[in-house]
Amino acid sequence: MRVYWLTQAAKDVPLTNDWLCAEEISCWNGFRFAKRRADWRLGRWTAKVAIATCLRWPTYPRVLAQIEIRATPSGAPEALLPGLTTPLAFSISHRAGAAMCAVSPIRMKLGCDLEIVEPRGDAFVTDYFTPEEQCLVTRVPRADRPAFLGLLWSAKESALKAIGQGLRLDTRSVAVTPLDGQPDVSGWSPLRVRCAGNQVFYGWWRNTHGFLHTVVSDPDPECPIALPVSDYRRDLIDFPDTSSRNERVPAKIAS
Ligand SMILES: CC(C)(COP(=O)(O)OP(=O)(O)OC[C@H]1O[C@@H](n2cnc3c(N)ncnc32)[C@H](O)[C@@H]1OP(=O)(O)O)[C@@H](O)C(=O)NCCC(=O)NCCS
Repeated sequence: MRVYWLTQAAKDVPLTNDWLCAEEISCWNGFRFAKRRADWRLGRWTAKVAIATCLRWPTYPRVLAQIEIRATPSGAPEALLPGLTTPLAFSISHRAGAAMCAVSPIRMKLGCDLEIVEPRGDAFVTDYFTPEEQCLVTRVPRADRPAFLGLLWSAKESALKAIGQGLRLDTRSVAVTPLDGQPDVSGWSPLRVRCAGNQVFYGWWRNTHGFLHTVVSDPDPECPIALPVSDYRRDLIDFPDTSSRNERVPAKIAS
């Protein structure tokens, strides 16, 4: 199954809020802490651009404002799109001034996560990982452990998002195994996550410049495909706004 992905940084997010709909602006205004507001905004921006690009919509602010992303009671995001009857699947992560969105034009269980490589104490390993995962960790040279633990943790969070429960579930109810195989040309390597109840997710991970990205889905995902994103600011200069211009193209699915 094809899964697309996109990362954006804080500097990519417009200063204005004209790409958010009224409900989203109200939600954003309700956050107390500046960090949460910034993370949420970056995540929403990344998801809207990813969804629009996947559907081959332009990424102008007023088009993105027609995509409403809201939280379901579990915290999982859902998107309301005009004229699109088939719900797509997507997942959001934000960390350290960067955000990631994985999106599939077909409804499926899908989770993604972004982590940074950072030192972790021994208690982190014993508290959050299964005995099998802890055994895997001991086989990794100490210098490589922060990256390896980041990979295991990120894949867990991806699976917990794909299940739709997040950290309401015990992190030891999902067990991650990196699979053998050379990374593909974009640096993605395969992994598997076994969950309680015999559910199994397959997915991918990559480590670039200290950022770990993971994606899992059911059905099994092909190697994630990076979404090509045009700079909407440059597009607006090339194609200045006119009243006759189509603001929204009919929903199409990236192939
Ligand atoms: C999902 C979760 C594991 C992600 O935590 P995280 O690694 O700190 O944050 P990430 O940036 O990677 O992911 C956050 C995004 O996950 C998504 N998400 C949140 N809950 C989700 C759920 N139940 N299922 C799928 N995705 C979820 C949201 O899009 C969220 O971003 P947003 O709130 O800005 O829209 C965690 O937020 C969680 O468990 N939330 C649900 C339960 C909860 O709120 N518990 C309170 C703390 S234990």
